Amino acid sequence: PTLQKFVDALPIPAIIHIPIGRQVTLGAYKILQKLHRDLPSTVLYGYGSSQAAATSPGPTLRATQGIEAYVRWENHIKDDSHFLPVDATIHWANPKSGGVPIVTHLHGAEVESASDGHPDAWFTQRRETGPRFVTQNYVYANSQSQTMLWYHDHTVGITRLNVYAGLAGLYFIDSPVAYVDNLPSGAFEVPLVIQDKQFYANGSLNFPNVGDSPLIHPVWCPEFFGDTILVNGKVWPYLNVQPRLYRFRILNAANARFFVLSFNNSALSFKQIGTDGGFLDKSIVLSTLTIPPAYRVDVLVDFSSLAPGTDVVLTNSGPAPFPSGDPSQSPNGTKVVMNFHVISATKNAPGASGSISTTIFQPAPSINLEKAFVRKNLTLKEFDDNNGNPILILLSSLSWTDPVTETPSVGSVEIWEIINLTPDAHPMHVHLIQFRVLNQQSFDQTGYLNGSCTLSLQFPDPKSCFTENSRQPDVDQIGWKDTTITWPSNVTRLWIRFTSQGGSSFPFDATGGPGYVWHCHILDHEDNDMMRPYVLH
Ligand code: C2O
Ligand code: CU
Repeated sequence: PTLQKFVDALPIPAIIHIPIGRQVTLGAYKILQKLHRDLPSTVLYGYGSSQAAATSPGPTLRATQGIEAYVRWENHIKDDSHFLPVDATIHWANPKSGGVPIVTHLHGAEVESASDGHPDAWFTQRRETGPRFVTQNYVYANSQSQTMLWYHDHTVGITRLNVYAGLAGLYFIDSPVAYVDNLPSGAFEVPLVIQDKQFYANGSLNFPNVGDSPLIHPVWCPEFFGDTILVNGKVWPYLNVQPRLYRFRILNAANARFFVLSFNNSALSFKQIGTDGGFLDKSIVLSTLTIPPAYRVDVLVDFSSLAPGTDVVLTNSGPAPFPSGDPSQSPNGTKVVMNFHVISATKNAPGASGSISTTIFQPAPSINLEKAFVRKNLTLKEFDDNNGNPILILLSSLSWTDPVTETPSVGSVEIWEIINLTPDAHPMHVHLIQFRVLNQQSFDQTGYLNGSCTLSLQFPDPKSCFTENSRQPDVDQIGWKDTTITWPSNVTRLWIRFTSQGGSSFPFDATGGPGYVWHCHILDHEDNDMMRPYVLH
């Protein structure tokens, strides 16, 4: 259906302040939600404290740094089977008693593994549980820096379906001290959860039910790309803004689409102050933001030079797949995200001036490479069928069910060398910790694959596959990250310290329970089979 743009106001998900010492209950429910003025209501799965309160995105949880939060996750989805097409040839939860399994992961959180939402810790409304299920009562330590995390479903083999169906929401770790930073707050601090979807005229979600390779994975598609952009669960919404400074907390919650955002008005730019793991060490002014799936970006935008009545469109130029896709093939609807409509100023509030306190910034940790254990040969590899269609994407050529190979010990420091042997970029995510991107380095993929050169010799040795000296992280890879872009034909090196973000030990036992995972955050990849377990000891 052709839908008119900018006719719905940007919704702001309801906020639940997590009370100290008391458990909050959030359930997954089947819901009907209006996603556009002219679209009939859409069947979704959403999170909420009750059926009536459930929405997609779910409510925004606000926790306090240093104070444990207790969240009970429930499954109230009574469907006999998923309303989106499951590919039964993929390794997936596959509950014997039917129903729709869910398990919720708090993305980016320092958390004990029993509360991490392990993909095999799923449970159904009928009380069937996955092989690594421990509890529905989760404990979040909130021991890391103040930042915006997000929660989303992580069920093995159907994460792409459950998240596309709506199971995602925001989670803030707030500073225990109010108003120390003079940053825009309240109505001037706006979360933007960006996704792409596709609809049938009757309002229902369109998700492909025919795979690229009918004989091997008849239903699974290597990447889902929609033709319509939603922000906070509305199609191409608008937001009325006053001519002043705003803070936007942006999340890419799409299955596979990378967003490259800019304004169609050169008077505006983004001043990025934070990323996945909290504030940067200094602000960066950018005219475009590259936001792969699962990234969070914390930016200030100053509308004060714009006259009331001005409209500014937030646009997207990210090709799909990224970066090799042909931009001219992108549906026009994916090039527009939302509209900012400038209205006259009605009031002043802290943070209006743009003079923010520099004490918010967190210095980079000191990185000592001598102590680090280097994990080599973490390859990203695509396996194609006879027609060249991807049918499987593996890490280190191992699948999800192969024995654990990454077993760091608590307190250790490791360098993970991720070698991308595919034609596209993959947003790689490691659970439990915030890491730093050390550097990246391009190499000759053909030579590497046919063995005519090696990555164990450095550039410019003639036998080395490297085609350059290692280079600094890109601007979107700077700061504390839990997810980072890894470019094709590049080695991306992550510096990972298996401690709490500040460098001290975890305030919980990280070694017990079902363990953790690392994976590509293109959800279609993670489901088949670009995800591996890891355990701490
Ligand atoms: Cu955002 Cu393993 O997940
Ligand atoms: Cu991937």
